[in-house]
Amino acid sequence: MMQRNGIVFAACAAFVLATAVAAGWAQPAAAAKGARVDKTTFGTTKDGQAVELYTLTNAGGIVARVMTYGALLTELHVPDRSGQMADVVLGFKTLDAYEGAHPYFGATIGRVANRIAKGKFRLNGQEYTLATNNGPNHLHGGVKGFDKRVWKAQTVPATGGVAVKFTYTSADMEEGYPGTLTATVVYTLTDRNELRLDYTATTDKATPINLTNHSYFNLAGDGQGTILDHELTIMADRYTPVDDTLIPTGEIASVRGTVMDFNRSTRIGGRIAQVPGPAPGGYDHNYVLTHGGGVLAMSATVREPKSGRVMEVLTSEPGVQLYTGNFLDGTITGKAGVAYQKHFGFCLETQHFPDAINHPNFPPVVLPPGKTFKSTTVYRFGVK
Ligand code: GLA
Repeated sequence: MMQRNGIVFAACAAFVLATAVAAGWAQPAAAAKGARVDKTTFGTTKDGQAVELYTLTNAGGIVARVMTYGALLTELHVPDRSGQMADVVLGFKTLDAYEGAHPYFGATIGRVANRIAKGKFRLNGQEYTLATNNGPNHLHGGVKGFDKRVWKAQTVPATGGVAVKFTYTSADMEEGYPGTLTATVVYTLTDRNELRLDYTATTDKATPINLTNHSYFNLAGDGQGTILDHELTIMADRYTPVDDTLIPTGEIASVRGTVMDFNRSTRIGGRIAQVPGPAPGGYDHNYVLTHGGGVLAMSATVREPKSGRVMEVLTSEPGVQLYTGNFLDGTITGKAGVAYQKHFGFCLETQHFPDAINHPNFPPVVLPPGKTFKSTTVYRFGVK
């Protein structure tokens, strides 16, 4: 084991070997003993497509399950400080439930994650109109976004871990977006207890793109109450304030001295009642990461005090949406048989800023043909 800032992370032979490879000393590191990928059938969609479920297991016994419907993380089992495993993501047992109404549990979100005001944008002199599936706005790729598509999958080699690559080709004008776009996301479970998501995309016409993962975490375990006692740090000095429909006003505001400030580890529930914005209340905001994006960097940490479980989030994206499950209202029952009440999970959706396509002062989201979009997010688990 190795310790950093008091947090214990597993160190193992595979990591040492991987480091050796990076330094050019040795042959590529295979995943450590015990690491493997198993493939099973998860079900068949209502329109007759077979859905596969990949189970990734690392040397330390961490298990991640990802299915081809939505390239969606259905389960993630990680140990607490006494080695007790718990599934720390919300979700369902059946494909049928995932095909029903739910707020994007575990899914890969695209073509454009988060909101686009009134579902409209201009690109290269042309106006595009998308579905307004969230009040007056477009949300998370539209009526049938990447979260509701069946992706192709294959296992791929990975250094110091095991990996599965998911691929989806989105047709020209699908959901109103221009260009045939091919997106990939590789889920790698490393022997350093990291779940790493590497995204790429290419297009044949300029298009906006913003890919994320919409996992809802509860580090006490799925269905184990609210996340209000989780202690959160977000390395962000600024955020993008929103209007009543959760569209950024365009201002980039300081978090200092406000309830938005998570630069120092703070209980999520500590000031949640004072968060400004529309009912039903809570955090649903994009943070402007201080590292600025472009390289993989530490962005947030979360600790659940009873179990001691810690999750670190690293990303190459410039922003992260903190969403505290404000719209969960007990109407959806999850895989543990527990109804998901308000704040039963939190999301840290790494991303470009919401409605960036309509805000020239935000980091740009247009992918031109001939270029490859790349983005990486790592969720790293330990105990403290
Ligand atoms: C995102 C949005 C939230 C909400 C959830 C899904 O996180 O920012 O407002 O729509 O997705 O319920």
